[in-house]
Amino acid sequence: MESQLKQLQIEALEKIEKAADLKVLNEIRIAYLGKKGPITEVLRGMGKLSAEERPKMGALGNDVRSAITEKLAEKQKVLEEAAVAKQLAAETIDVTLPGRPIRVGNHHPLTKTVEEIEDLFIGMGYTVAEGPEVEQDYYNFEALNLPKDHPARDMQDSFYITEEMLLRTQTSPVQVRTMEKYNGKGPVKIICPGKVYRRDHDDATHSHQFMQIEGLAVAENITMADLKGTLEVFAKKMFGENREIRLRPSFFPFTEPSVEMDISCMICEGEGCNVCKQTGWIEILGAGMVHPNVLKMSGFDPEKYTGFAFGMGAERIAMLKYGVDDIRHFYTNDVRFLKQFGLHE
Ligand code: FA5
Ligand code: MG
Repeated sequence: MESQLKQLQIEALEKIEKAADLKVLNEIRIAYLGKKGPITEVLRGMGKLSAEERPKMGALGNDVRSAITEKLAEKQKVLEEAAVAKQLAAETIDVTLPGRPIRVGNHHPLTKTVEEIEDLFIGMGYTVAEGPEVEQDYYNFEALNLPKDHPARDMQDSFYITEEMLLRTQTSPVQVRTMEKYNGKGPVKIICPGKVYRRDHDDATHSHQFMQIEGLAVAENITMADLKGTLEVFAKKMFGENREIRLRPSFFPFTEPSVEMDISCMICEGEGCNVCKQTGWIEILGAGMVHPNVLKMSGFDPEKYTGFAFGMGAERIAMLKYGVDDIRHFYTNDVRFLKQFGLHE
């Protein structure tokens, strides 16, 4: 019996040593140590032994079991470590593999232009104001010195919603809305960007929906020289230090006197080219001294306060700044166009 037990131990330890994985190891455990295993089987014959031999064989049986159990535990540890190592090797990440680039969007060129202009005026002490796109006839026209049936209304063909409501044709109504809030007390210095709508036919330089940026400064003793100085700073910051400006007489019902501002052409430096139609100058915006009637209707005393206002088309500015030849590019959402205006240029 003793040799049988020892033989079983040798056999079991050999098999354990050779076990290739945890599954095989478990099979060996069941085979040798289980209730139906050979060791139990051999020990069952102990009844036939003498009283002296019985405890010896019992002890040997236990020794064999613990030797096998120990070896199983040892091997299990080795196999588990190997399994982990194998898994780690299989899951290794090759950090040298180039990543897939994530496509990052960028600001729309119009947004960039508007933000740049806003920043420029904020730097000069202006704040940004906004107003509704669906506007009352009163604010869009009447309070801007354009009574009903005023012929200058034809300059801005409008989308009416009702008799009294329309899509605003300009950002100038924000001037009136803002001045009303100041209750006749200056100074007021605002810049208001926003969408406007006109029944214009779309072409390379016209869109039925476009963006304007309005500026307004009202205080005591503001003069035309302040307007000219402000616009000159704007032109140089936006289009380069070499830009010169000129003011031409013009007409807007809400300013008196009214002007249109040109900048010297940045393409030909004033020599004359296709962009400036051989004149050397490019029209940028409309402006003027706020009409006393507008000040009065907005609650300001025209005897005490004066002010200037200007309004420009954001698309036209962006077209000149970035050399865009058709206003429709801004609205057709062609990524080949849009991605040229990344953050990194
Ligand atoms: C005005 O709208 C005045 N409110 C500007 C103003 C404000 C004058 C304050 C005086 C004081 P005008 O209609 O010229 O003016 O339009 C201003 C600018 O908007 C134009 O110079 C042009 O750049 C742009 N613009 C006009 N119509 C269109 C259009 N259909 N598509 C794109 N841009 C346009
Ligand atoms: Mg005009």
